[in-house]
Amino acid sequence: MIPFEEQFAAYRQQHFGFVDRLIYREKAEILDLFPESELAAEVVRDLEALANASGLKRKLTDFILKNIRAQVAGSVSVIEVCGGSCWLLRSVTSQVDHGKFHIHAVGSDLSQRHIETNTTAFRHMNIEWLVADATNLLFSNLKFDIALNCQALHHFPVGIVIKLLRELKRISKKVIIFDLRRTFYGPALVQSLSPFYSSSIISDGVASHRRAYSIQEMEFIIRIADLPYKVTPFTPVGMLVESI
Ligand SMILES: C[S@@+](CC[C@H](N)C(=O)[O-])C[C@H]1O[C@@H](n2cnc3c(N)ncnc32)[C@H](O)[C@@H]1O
Repeated sequence: MIPFEEQFAAYRQQHFGFVDRLIYREKAEILDLFPESELAAEVVRDLEALANASGLKRKLTDFILKNIRAQVAGSVSVIEVCGGSCWLLRSVTSQVDHGKFHIHAVGSDLSQRHIETNTTAFRHMNIEWLVADATNLLFSNLKFDIALNCQALHHFPVGIVIKLLRELKRISKKVIIFDLRRTFYGPALVQSLSPFYSSSIISDGVASHRRAYSIQEMEFIIRIADLPYKVTPFTPVGMLVESI
């Protein structure tokens, strides 16, 4: 069988248009190069501020709460992987109807620094914090009702994306992933926010939008790996990758 990376490279070669060639760049970000640094901590803090200001936090939280209400009754277990500050998990956990649901929440990231910060800053919340590699999780099959992942897929090459999607589906009944999708306007949009945010998040943000997968590319990845997922646009610059 042809390796996924090779199949994907061939797909890109055939499908890249003029705009893709102009926008697409593969450049490592501060979060990839120095995950335990103060700059990485600054990026993670600004990601939360941006999610608040852009309305992404509100929109994603509402979507996830709707899913919880539709799928689970009584007690619900939720994990977030590659969570950074885990603003999404914290938002869902604090807004779930506590009269109806008992929530067991696990927030995780590969960076020890982010998890230590969360453990201290959010000690009042009933969340279990864990340093964990999202592609190799030490949980039994279907341990969770819902697994969340936000703004992380574009950090990984195709083979790792496939591993992560498989791993999340293995440990949970429902997977909800949000990531950026490559658009011609994404990098310029982030650049226009430079008066309001740190130079670290602007630099990582532009790099993220340039290296993000397009919706068609994500659909191709799901198809070649035969994964039980679907992709839909979500916000003008993002997509949802949901288990089916
Ligand atoms: C762009 S940040 C997203 C953080 C958060 N989800 C958000 O939307 O603000 C990507 C995160 O993935 C984490 N990460 C990278 N590789 C990982 C891996 N293999 N397993 C778990 N986390 C990882 C990084 O430490 C970083 O916090």
